[in-house]
Amino acid sequence: MLDGCGRTIDYLRLSVTELCNYRCRYCMPEAGICKRDHREILSVEECVEIAEASAHCGVKKIRLTGGEPLVRRGLLEICRGLRAIPALEELCLTTNGSLLPSMAAPLREVGVDRLNISLDTLRPERFASMTRLGHLSDVLDGIKAAEAAGFSDLKLDTVLIGGFNDDEIGDFLALTMEHPWEVRFIELMPMGPCAEWDKSCFLPGTEILKRYPGLQEIVPNGVARRYRVPGAKGTVGLISPVSHDFCGQCRRIRVTADGKLKGCLHSREEIPLRGLHGEELEEAIRRGILQKPQRHHLTERPSDTPRNMNQIGG
Ligand code: GTP
Ligand code: 5AD
Ligand code: SF4
Repeated sequence: MLDGCGRTIDYLRLSVTELCNYRCRYCMPEAGICKRDHREILSVEECVEIAEASAHCGVKKIRLTGGEPLVRRGLLEICRGLRAIPALEELCLTTNGSLLPSMAAPLREVGVDRLNISLDTLRPERFASMTRLGHLSDVLDGIKAAEAAGFSDLKLDTVLIGGFNDDEIGDFLALTMEHPWEVRFIELMPMGPCAEWDKSCFLPGTEILKRYPGLQEIVPNGVARRYRVPGAKGTVGLISPVSHDFCGQCRRIRVTADGKLKGCLHSREEIPLRGLHGEELEEAIRRGILQKPQRHHLTERPSDTPRNMNQIGG
């Protein structure tokens, strides 16, 4: 359906948990988050019911997010439930990749079409320092497991952070020479713990084009502008939510793990969906779509949402 600004809304990002086995510095406070009583988080049945109601309102693509969706108990059941929705054309999942060695094949079996894997650095010590709990080798094994399970159009999401990984742009581009992956550089958005970080951490996506002028532009896909290193098997994406915002083409709504509909990642507005069923639930989703904010205001001030990224779902 169309929102109040005339945009088609057909993409739901459904967060299935706030928990994560990592503590990335820009995303979560070091102490992590208080583990909520599981009754505060949507049940498997509620996730499926909300997805069905969203499909009645025009949603054709669902992406499961978190926190880290692979730590969610019942994830495969949720996937099976979503796959049974006839109107659903694409089921995707965004993950930090660390649990894919055991989960990639089951995810493929229950009908997940596509995976996006977050990977901010290719250096083991940096990886450990950024994630505070992680081992790079787990994610690299996870990528291999995803390919072995038959996930062919992998995207790797790299948040570009000045002074942290901007000296690795060339290494990420080199990955696309050997592998048919899309490496996407994402601008760091000022929210949660990183809202207060020094200005030098926030680099525009165009920095990559400035440093690597040989990149050839190819047709865009979704919110990413796309390029190729001449002769490479894979591609390069630039997602520039801050310097080149794509709010005008936004097709998304989100539902948080505690059951709140958010029209915009950066807005305070939330519509509680729990306890609603049938026509009432659909009516609430339609209202959320109609009230979807026109744009974010990141160029004027940090994100308006009081939530950290792990409590929204990227
Ligand atoms: P595709 O289906 O492959 O196009 O995936 P996607 O780009 O929609 O999903 P992914 O989870 O890989 O998101 C990529 C990055 O874009 C995330 O890491 C976020 O940083 C950012 N992002 C996702 N959704 C939004 C949004 O609604 N607004 C803004 N400003 N940024 C977003
Ligand atoms: N800015 C940009 N991307 C972010 N992510 C988390 N926090 C931010 C932020 N402040 C990314 C993660 C992951 C995805 C779900 O969201 O790195 O790729
Ligand atoms: Fe976990 Fe992803 Fe947040 Fe890192 S960015 S702490 S992997 S949810």
